[in-house]
Amino acid sequence: MTGQAQKQPAVTASKQDSAIEAKGVVNRFGKQLIHNGVDLTLKKGEILGIVGGSGSGKSVLLRTMLGLHKPNEGQVLVDGRDVTSLNEDERKQMAQKWGVAFQEGALFSGLNVLDNISLPLREHTKLNGKDIESLALFKLGIVGLKPEAATKFPSELSGGMVRRAGLARALALDPGILFLDEPTSGLDPIAAAAFDQLILELRRVLTLSVLIITHDLDTLVTICDRIAMLVDKKVIVGTLDEMMACDVPQVKEYFRGPRMRAVQKEPHNADKDAGQGDKQSPQEKK
Ligand SMILES: Nc1ncnc2c1ncn2[C@@H]1O[C@H](COP(=O)(O)OP(=O)(O)OP(=O)(O)O)[C@@H](O)[C@H]1O
Ligand SMILES: [Mg+2]
Repeated sequence: MTGQAQKQPAVTASKQDSAIEAKGVVNRFGKQLIHNGVDLTLKKGEILGIVGGSGSGKSVLLRTMLGLHKPNEGQVLVDGRDVTSLNEDERKQMAQKWGVAFQEGALFSGLNVLDNISLPLREHTKLNGKDIESLALFKLGIVGLKPEAATKFPSELSGGMVRRAGLARALALDPGILFLDEPTSGLDPIAAAAFDQLILELRRVLTLSVLIITHDLDTLVTICDRIAMLVDKKVIVGTLDEMMACDVPQVKEYFRGPRMRAVQKEPHNADKDAGQGDKQSPQEKK
């Protein structure tokens, strides 16, 4: 705990091994209860997958963790500060700790790839144009895009290239945390597998903590250290093996269903050892 935090008893310190921690999050829209006390920790260095049925509240949880949606109750702690109680300027400052790649890459259609990647650098740094361009080109390279892609507009890119460009933009400010919303949806299996491997490699090289919302079972099996499932407005979390052994009916249906069995039969060569997934039992968060 820092000296400054000690002078502010209202601020609760998050555990040292957590990159971001949601505690007791309750979200409702009118009478509709979405989250009823969600506790979720993204540990430093891990890749955490978030699954759950359509409408179960994955995107709302992501927005809550980013401070874009204020929960009815609960906290989201990053470095001991509660993201949900920041004003807009403080939130923008805090947001430099993470990069977000929204679904479909969410690039600005009127800007070419290089300008899309440069945008966060223009907004948040005082670097000159040449340095920004050099940095943006570097990010373009680390996500596996060729320099020729720099001057293309989003409409001129393949689906896989759009995702990589979105990833490069998310990494523009060297964040420690990466949030990905369905990064491989709509990609063919080869492009999706390549993207998964890229995430693994970037996690290793850039020591990132990664939270991925996904419906892609291959992603869960090959790169996620732990998986969190939204069930009955709460979260159940564990390693893949633990989730497969879990007897909560919805978890059982998802992890022991025919689609998961088919994925499990395929050979996977992912290097997941770089992660820090724990070996605890799945916990049904109260
Ligand atoms: N701004 C909002 N106002 C009212 N209701 C909302 C709002 N945002 C989300 N919801 C509701 O909250 C619920 C959860 O939505 P959310 O987008 O988090 O689902 P999801 O798990 O991401 O689903 P999907 O897999 O289809 O993307 C849905 O019933 C949705 O209609
Ligand atoms: Mg969603």
